[in-house]
Amino acid sequence: MKVISFEGFEYSGKSTQIKLLKKYFIKNKIKSTFTREPGGNKDLEKIRNIIIKSNFDNLSLIMFFFASRFSLLSSLKNNDLIVFDRFFDSTYAYQKYNLKEKKLIISLINLIDQKFIPNITFYLKLDKKNLMERKNKRVYSNKFDKKYFGQFSRIQRNYNEISKMKIGKRKFVTIDASLSANEIHEKIIVHLKKCKLIR
Ligand code: TMP
Repeated sequence: MKVISFEGFEYSGKSTQIKLLKKYFIKNKIKSTFTREPGGNKDLEKIRNIIIKSNFDNLSLIMFFFASRFSLLSSLKNNDLIVFDRFFDSTYAYQKYNLKEKKLIISLINLIDQKFIPNITFYLKLDKKNLMERKNKRVYSNKFDKKYFGQFSRIQRNYNEISKMKIGKRKFVTIDASLSANEIHEKIIVHLKKCKLIR
């Protein structure tokens, strides 16, 4: 099984890239399953709505995200190729404040079955200037994003931290999110070919 994950802050263009990749896979007849977190299946989408509309405390959120994650993983069949729209890096990026959360999140990541550890993670990194420009053109997509918007620097630092951790054999690729959608897409395809995840 091959696993790809996408990460990024709101407005990073993550959804656009996932759509472009889906199109590419269809065009090239590459069998794949796309899923997202939180959510990913019928029951867990209901839980997604509860989580992102809630005011749960941070430790509860970590547990909810991981409970939903383990449930999603156990519902995934032995697929050839799975593409995750957010995965465990998001919990580290968004819910890690101090050492307490760091230890908890890392120990939960260690419980994930190795076969689900991504071969490659694409992190679309946006700088503050670009983020503000994009934000002015759009409204918040949900209350949760609004809550975390002011925490951009902390979340970006956390992504940077987890990018340097050794998690299985996964490769963490940071891509400048200010590039055009097509440029980013092309970079992603080059990486996937280089890692032999596609031909
Ligand atoms: P999305 O809009 O990219 O689907 O993400 C939904 C929100 O959930 C987004 O604000 C990031 C947040 N999130 C976390 O805070 N922790 C997590 O573990 C995951 C998967 C998402």
